[in-house]
Amino acid sequence: MSFRYRPDQPPFEHVSLQALPGQTVAIVGPTGAGKTTLMNLLLRFYEVDAGCIRLDGIDIRTLTREALRSHFGVVPQETWLFAGSIHDNIAYGHVGGAPATAAEVLAAATACHVDEFVRLLPGGYDTLIDENGGGLSAGQQQLLTIARAFIAQPVVLILDEATSSVDTRTERLVQEAMTKLRAGRTSFVIAHRLSTILDADVIAYMENGNVVEQGSHAVLMAARGRYWALYESQFSNDPIAA
Ligand SMILES: Nc1ncnc2c1ncn2[C@@H]1O[C@H](COP(=O)(O)OP(=O)(O)O)[C@@H](O)[C@H]1O
Ligand SMILES: [Mg+2]
Repeated sequence: MSFRYRPDQPPFEHVSLQALPGQTVAIVGPTGAGKTTLMNLLLRFYEVDAGCIRLDGIDIRTLTREALRSHFGVVPQETWLFAGSIHDNIAYGHVGGAPATAAEVLAAATACHVDEFVRLLPGGYDTLIDENGGGLSAGQQQLLTIARAFIAQPVVLILDEATSSVDTRTERLVQEAMTKLRAGRTSFVIAHRLSTILDADVIAYMENGNVVEQGSHAVLMAARGRYWALYESQFSNDPIAA
């Protein structure tokens, strides 16, 4: 597909990418490369100018936006919470008829390492937070948004990795929660730390709105191109992290 926001903007031209059911597709590349735009097109916040995007073979333009988005769970780059209880902030992700039950919220919270800090709060899941997350740390807020996606049990998951720095332990918990969330579902992971996506089925390296390289980690490393250079820059000074 091809796309541009405005005539004076650099275009996305002939971008081609396929994710098979259950696969993890990692999208990497410098800031401004078009990673978030690609996800916005997938969710139809913008329409492609040429070509098309298909979900299970169906052109997504033939679906209502609501129907399309019901298949997706999104963990956005910018953590967002709303003023309400912790329960409500997790339950928000639940789709379909009946509201999420306390048991469903607890299950999602437990899987995503949210329960371990919520149970220490005097108000538990009824604790009120505001749009800024109240007294929660940046990492705890991230975990909450992961639990929200978890409860939706989406067919396709979009994880736009947060860039905000959290401590090492929290980062590990976030990674664990994301790995659980990815299991068994088609996932697009926009990754800044390559350590989190080395096992992805497909890694797409984007630059200036185009996918310039794609393949597994091993294939892209052997190609010694852009991805290889990025990997070297992240790991050359830190052999333990690799
Ligand atoms: N809503 C928008 N309107 C116009 N240009 C945009 C908009 N969103 C992003 N862009 C531009 O599109 C390009 C890709 O941005 P983005 O997809 O956010 O990159 P990434 O997520 O890889 O950092 C950038 O040049 C950015 O400035
Ligand atoms: Mg982005």
